[in-house]
Amino acid sequence: PASVLTDPYGRILNYLRIALTDRCNLRCTYCMPAEGVPFIEHEQIMRFEEILRLVQIMLPYGLRKIRVTGGEPLVRRGTISFLQKLRQVGPELQIHLTTNGVLLEDYFKELVEISISGVNLSLDTLNPQKFKKITRHDSFVKVWRALQQVLDSNIPLKLNMVVQRGLNEDEIIPMAELARQHSLEVRFIEQMPFDGLSRKIERPFTGEEILQTLRTAFGTLESTKKQNGTAQLYKIPGFKGTIGIISGYSRTFCSDCNRLRLTSTGVLKTCLYDRGSVNLKDLMRAGYDDARLLKAIERAVRERHKDGFEAEKESFDVQKLSMSQIGG
Ligand code: GTP
Ligand code: 5AD
Ligand code: SF4
Repeated sequence: PASVLTDPYGRILNYLRIALTDRCNLRCTYCMPAEGVPFIEHEQIMRFEEILRLVQIMLPYGLRKIRVTGGEPLVRRGTISFLQKLRQVGPELQIHLTTNGVLLEDYFKELVEISISGVNLSLDTLNPQKFKKITRHDSFVKVWRALQQVLDSNIPLKLNMVVQRGLNEDEIIPMAELARQHSLEVRFIEQMPFDGLSRKIERPFTGEEILQTLRTAFGTLESTKKQNGTAQLYKIPGFKGTIGIISGYSRTFCSDCNRLRLTSTGVLKTCLYDRGSVNLKDLMRAGYDDARLLKAIERAVRERHKDGFEAEKESFDVQKLSMSQIGG
């Protein structure tokens, strides 16, 4: 029935975030320690055919949007041909990519060819030295070139900047300035405690402070709230682009959250914070047919919490998770 992807509170889960890998070619300090996090063995990672099968099962039930994440999705071999097949399976699907941009130039042409619906690009600083400090790699120039390339295309671009006190708060204004001439969305993100070390963040730079910083520099910001988004959106008079603030640490977006997640190992999650009740890869490898897989998906959706953050945050705090394992 059409209700398979509708949770008990009437929210339609029409947006699936798929983590293709836990691996990454950067080592951002807010995401993982310098030595990285233990990698998952290859055998435990979902094969592309398995992912495509799950997408095909969900498509008739109102799935509209897929975001491919990681780790860094472009480091996985075969990602591009997977995206090409995804496009064949869902000609109408919105297909989005979250990437750190290091390999974006190499695959840009192919992404244009599959009519990628949008790119979310991580960029925490406009200063190459600071980039190296934050990501532990000297790749600023590559990411900057990729950014220009997306701007020159018609592909909608969102920039993700994780704001860290004492490290890059002084770049909030220069980063926002990018939205003056370009019609992109510049987003400022509260740091969340997912750096693989379970460290509490001492004094997180809050969304409130980000807003205050922007107001001091630009005067009034007009709020324009969009549905289902993580970001609170603002317009600065005279700017072509938009400003977004993602207060993922101080508030959540549960009330209109339309997201399902698949981790790289095949766990289906109905919330960023939940650990998932079912591993769909294991069920496929145990020989489940499509009807039984659909039942398993339906059950997970039925058991969804009203407010996943409240329900899960206690247990989440004690785990040592990296955003690269969660998939963002
Ligand atoms: P779109 O709305 O599709 O553009 O995606 P997004 O902004 O959610 O995705 P993106 O991968 O660019 O992630 C941006 C930030 O939002 C990251 O810090 C994510 O961890 C965070 N985020 C994504 N989904 C959720 C969520 O459900 N809850 C919370 N608290 N944070 C989220
Ligand atoms: N807190 C908030 N956002 C994070 N990201 C990675 N780690 C964290 C964290 N600890 C962001 C990245 C990327 C997005 C998928 O998640 O900047 O853009
Ligand atoms: Fe890689 Fe993204 Fe984590 Fe940075 S934040 S280390 S780019 S997965």
